[in-house]
Amino acid sequence: MIEVISDINEMRRICEDKRQKGVKIGLVPTMGALHEGHLSLIKCALKKADFVVVSIYVNPVQFGPEEDFEKYPRDLERDVRLVDSHCAHVVFAPSDRLMYHEGYSTYVTVEDLTASLCGRSRPAHFRGVTTVVAKLFNIVRPHVAVFGQKDAQQLSVIRRMVKDLNMDIEIDAGPIVRESDGLATSSRNKYLNKEEREQATVLYRSLEAAKKLVNDDITSSGQIIGKVRKVLEEAPLAKMEYVEIVNFDDMRQIDDVSNGALLAIAVWFGETRLIDNVIISGHGG
Ligand code: PAJ
Repeated sequence: MIEVISDINEMRRICEDKRQKGVKIGLVPTMGALHEGHLSLIKCALKKADFVVVSIYVNPVQFGPEEDFEKYPRDLERDVRLVDSHCAHVVFAPSDRLMYHEGYSTYVTVEDLTASLCGRSRPAHFRGVTTVVAKLFNIVRPHVAVFGQKDAQQLSVIRRMVKDLNMDIEIDAGPIVRESDGLATSSRNKYLNKEEREQATVLYRSLEAAKKLVNDDITSSGQIIGKVRKVLEEAPLAKMEYVEIVNFDDMRQIDDVSNGALLAIAVWFGETRLIDNVIISGHGG
């Protein structure tokens, strides 16, 4: 069975030893409750690195006071089995006490591109993400780290952190993995009741409708957003938080998608917040 390391110094020692021997190290950061999306990132990492560390840590610092930190699904045993069966090399599962010791007071903040999209309703979220990812990078010192396109803003924020802080780490992106009906796999899909789960396919349908418009040479963000909203309104349980078209680099809104853009949406079903996105590649889809 794969080794599960909870001690930071031990994790550092193992990785440092590999690094010294010229072994290429890959890191897949996760919060556990693993699903096909996470597992696809492990596969990406195994293509890029010889030694793949999967971190499993529900990072308290990235959850707001009203958010789902307490009820976030946790099942380390099951996760470890999955990581093992997908041939990663070690699981890093530190405790809160070790990650945020008493008196902890250092945070990494990426400005500007954390203000839009998810940052608007989750003001301290990305600060928590960049802080924990920076810590994981310092502990594991990976050559390459893999993140999902599912969290497109998170991916941009991490790329910016790596660039701004001169971290010598390659950031790779894995495509969005979906259920057979189009819903992006997510640990939070577990929260949906039967009716909500059925209606949640509307996210994917709305993005597909947008792609179709772009294929028909519609490039106005206003028109595309209007269509997405209309499709989302077809699901009575869906409550839109945002539908936005932004630049990849700075996550700022743009009026025209001719040169490529990110269409990102956040939609609530009851207490559950779902996000999804699609890359619009300009004229001709
Ligand atoms: P978590 O939500 O567990 O996601 C871990 C990684 O899996 C992220 O890079 C995320 O984008 C990716 N992922 C999730 N669903 C996916 C899907 N359907 N297809 C492809 N990739 C998917 O994101 C986090 O954890 C945390 O913020 C973390 C980066 C670990 C920092 O705590």
